[in-house]
Amino acid sequence: MVQLKGIQKRFGGVVALRDGSLEVRRGEVHLLMGENGAGKSTLMKIVAGMLEPDGGEFLWQGRSVRFRNPAEAAAHGIAMVHQESLLAPHLSVAENIFLGHEPRRPLGWVNRREMLEHAARIIEEHRFPLQAEWRVERLSPAGKQMVEICRAIRQGSSLLIFDEPTSSLSEAETQEVFRIVRALRERNMGVIYITHRLEELRAIGDRVTVLRDGQTVHSGPLGEISADQIIRHMVGRELNAIYTRAALPPGEEVLAVRGLTRKPVLDDVTFSLRAGEIVGMAGLIGAGRTELCRALFGIDAIDRGEIRIRGRAVGIGSPQDAVREGLALIPEDRQRAGLATGLPVPYNLTMADLKAVCRGGFLKHAAESRITAEFSERLRIRMGPARQPAGRLSGGNQQKVAIAKWLLGQARVFLFDEPTRGIDVGAKMEVFQMMDELARRGAAILMVSSEMAELIQVADRILVMRQGRISGELPGRTTPEAIMRYAAFETGASAAGEAAR
Ligand SMILES: Nc1ncnc2c1ncn2[C@@H]1O[C@H](COP(=O)(O)OP(=O)(O)OP(=O)(O)O)[C@@H](O)[C@H]1O
Ligand SMILES: [Mg+2]
Repeated sequence: MVQLKGIQKRFGGVVALRDGSLEVRRGEVHLLMGENGAGKSTLMKIVAGMLEPDGGEFLWQGRSVRFRNPAEAAAHGIAMVHQESLLAPHLSVAENIFLGHEPRRPLGWVNRREMLEHAARIIEEHRFPLQAEWRVERLSPAGKQMVEICRAIRQGSSLLIFDEPTSSLSEAETQEVFRIVRALRERNMGVIYITHRLEELRAIGDRVTVLRDGQTVHSGPLGEISADQIIRHMVGRELNAIYTRAALPPGEEVLAVRGLTRKPVLDDVTFSLRAGEIVGMAGLIGAGRTELCRALFGIDAIDRGEIRIRGRAVGIGSPQDAVREGLALIPEDRQRAGLATGLPVPYNLTMADLKAVCRGGFLKHAAESRITAEFSERLRIRMGPARQPAGRLSGGNQQKVAIAKWLLGQARVFLFDEPTRGIDVGAKMEVFQMMDELARRGAAILMVSSEMAELIQVADRILVMRQGRISGELPGRTTPEAIMRYAAFETGASAAGEAAR
């Protein structure tokens, strides 16, 4: 279907692609992998008509093409499911599926009944858990993606591109997306799937292409290649992807939370963190984990409850209070909440600790440059010109900057909300190592994650949340089954009962 050969694309001085090559056949699921900033999104935006290439060959079904906009790509049967939904939130599912292509009556009125019926047919045929009349703004991220998929099907697309679709989805939603991808393949469509989560995708992918520094360095069947080999292609060096943390005797209690309640999302939450500890926080999407982080950090007010830091009761009414008390929050939605996307990377890195780069009210550019160089090296942040806005970085690199900025500050209690979402495998190991280092320097860390394997790997103990409450606590070396039991059922006892049935 698609042949890309030697595709080039630069943004000002930044070379995003120097030799992007890729071939996709009908009826295959093709994984596209590579480190953050390798050029994956850029290459796919070229295929989907959102960007024009500077050079190279692009063949669509054997013919040379060049799309000037997404509509042209759509007319050829190419659609892209974006991570950031591009839907109209206040419209219904059906209206979004038909946006701009509504069926009309002879006088030009939109034929609502036909539109609803047609949308319902698509939904039913693919067994999407949606209703044609539902308003899109009420849907979960997965639901929104399904609407985008419906739209692509309605357009009669034969190639569907997914850009990291599961990075913001729950386990169940992820499985649902996988089921749909398989169904698309059975209909002989082509699917390109960008991901950082190889092990999950192995089951549904047929072939894989790896980009490194804007260049295709490998392409071949998935069955013949190990995860280690793919990682080596991605980073161009050996990488020890197995992280283990040497246990550390926990120190004094740094944070104690008692009876924290915020109706209806948090209900009587009690736990504590000790110096040197990394405590995992598991739970299903919507269990209240992000809400807990926000309440602790003073973003959302609490109805009642007590927060003690080093034994002293503190009132945290705003993020400023939280920072003063030594808290740091690395939010889940880093692009929007963790970064000043219009400002250059060095500003973003040093904004949580201006003392480190100021003297007598003046900004020391040398210190700023040194810090920027150090962090971009350690986390392998692919930056381009240092003065360009942080919003221009690739998705994963923006995440790394948002994390790095807190590592520099003076915080002692770190709330990491889904810290590895969207970042590549090398950076993941670096983030774990940084967390370990912080713990060794006496920090206490709460790490919210939906990836159970990761919690088991990193955390000293794991708290599980369900419906706004802490439903259980487990040792670090536990099993995903044990976590799921607390995440999905109220108590261990009822979980056992459920399992017995
Ligand atoms: N509009 C833009 N302006 C300037 N530079 C850009 C722009 N879009 C992308 N880049 C740069 O091009 C390079 C490739 O970015 P791209 O978004 O394709 O990476 P990616 O492989 O999708 O990474 P990730 O895994 O982080 O999503 C990066 O260095 C990025 O900073
Ligand atoms: Mg990307």
